[in-house]
Amino acid sequence: MAPQLTGAPGPAAVAAVKPQFHHYHHHRLPPRHHHPAPASLLSKLAFWSVCSLSLLLAFLLLSPSSAPVAPHAAPESPRRSLHASPSSTASWGGAAWEKKVRASARVRRPRGHSVLVTGAAGFVGCHAAAALRRRGDGVLGLDNFNDYYDTALKRGRATLLARSGVYVVDGDIGDAELLAKLFDVVPFTHVLHLAAQAGVRHALVDPMSYVRANVAGLVGLLEAARSANPQPAIVWASSSSVYGLNSHVPFSEHDRTDRPASLYAATKKAGEEIAHVYNHIYGLSLTALRFFTVYGPWGRPDMAYFFFTRDILAGRPITVYESAGGSHQTTISRDFTYIDDIVKGCVAALDTAGRSTGSGGKKRGPAPFRTYNLGNTSPVPVTQLVDLLEKLLKVKAVRKVVKMPRNGDVPYTHANVSLAQRELGYRPSTDLQTGLKKFVRWYLEYYHPELAEKQKQHAGSNGKRSRGRNGSSSSAR
Ligand SMILES: NC(=O)c1ccc[n+]([C@@H]2O[C@H](COP(=O)([O-])OP(=O)(O)OC[C@H]3O[C@@H](n4cnc5c(N)ncnc54)[C@H](O)[C@@H]3O)[C@@H](O)[C@H]2O)c1
Repeated sequence: MAPQLTGAPGPAAVAAVKPQFHHYHHHRLPPRHHHPAPASLLSKLAFWSVCSLSLLLAFLLLSPSSAPVAPHAAPESPRRSLHASPSSTASWGGAAWEKKVRASARVRRPRGHSVLVTGAAGFVGCHAAAALRRRGDGVLGLDNFNDYYDTALKRGRATLLARSGVYVVDGDIGDAELLAKLFDVVPFTHVLHLAAQAGVRHALVDPMSYVRANVAGLVGLLEAARSANPQPAIVWASSSSVYGLNSHVPFSEHDRTDRPASLYAATKKAGEEIAHVYNHIYGLSLTALRFFTVYGPWGRPDMAYFFFTRDILAGRPITVYESAGGSHQTTISRDFTYIDDIVKGCVAALDTAGRSTGSGGKKRGPAPFRTYNLGNTSPVPVTQLVDLLEKLLKVKAVRKVVKMPRNGDVPYTHANVSLAQRELGYRPSTDLQTGLKKFVRWYLEYYHPELAEKQKQHAGSNGKRSRGRNGSSSSAR
């Protein structure tokens, strides 16, 4: 059954925001004519030259645009992305498509930004795009809707964005023609680059997907950005996983990041080095944000808080890892960071990003190069996460505690965010209990509306009882 959120987009609404399809027009060759008498070679040659010249002239005069074509400009007819996933219906190009792209990226506040958000149908991307749009920035999304996890969830996020006026182009960051076209159509001031192959464990199954999205994809995006005129400032998602085997806590931007524990971490670290190259050679303004375990409504189904919730509700056992011991504690701990705090950090990074200095692919001066941790600063053992979920779901979990396998996970993460605090004004404000409550409410409404209704009624009758006792409604919260 397709998941439905009260007021969440249904399949019909999703179909309504799909890019339009156009048809190719095939020009047929004219039929051959027979000439009754053979003319001299010279007059034959003159005849065909005149024909070719007139055809060329007619084509130039009748063509809809005789403007010069930019070096990388894509043809005007719709294109199918070469890198689209099997689930993708990618199609781009054409006048109607360009109009939609421009409308979505139009800035609606004085001195607002025009932002290309890659990975906009993803968890962080959809929240960030919505927040930027709410304050009047122009926002265009780009996502290849790959099937690493439930594509219906990605389509649902894109539909919500469409309702608020953000168009998510169905395309791949590895499609150089598409990127050149987007930068040609819109003079983006900023790029918020969130598209990536996320998740640590999946690298054991499909390592090349990490190289394609996080290394080759990043280079493709940076290539397009450095050739764009004007060059945008780029803020992009690195990861706390770059700290790898670092044991100095809390993790600071000055700590070692040369001992990654997973291929995912290694590709994010490679991304940081690649970003430096584009900053150094081409003058691109680059800011890397190292996110620490982000959670919240519309989250990622491959993350523990999400699949624990699913499995606890289904009565299935959940596997809780315990580390082999060491300097911290035996249970695995994470610096869980609520999505709204991460979005505030992304927006602040965009607002404070200095300009790129390059033009025409050439650097004109030094450009900003920054790296920030965005975490919550209070690690919580995963066992405590499960306790909280049990309380919120009102269901006891069946726990299977096992030693952590060597799958790329690290035992402990803890962010030092003093740099982000100083330079971005970043102050995370949602604790795990408050954030999880919001996640669980969304999860139940999206996947189990009947359970959500029951919980609401239960909370309502409890509220009435306590109001009756105290004569005030505040104790119901
Ligand atoms: N969520 C976290 O806890 C966390 C932690 C650290 C870093 N990050 C990073 O933050 C970013 C956003 O993460 P998320 O949790 O929203 O992940 P997500 O998987 O929900 O979002 C990523 C989106 O990018 C899209 N995408 C992937 N490859 C693409 C390509 N080649 N072209 C176009 N689109 C592509 C996917 O379809 C997806 O919608 C990622 O770069 C991730 O590595 C996330």
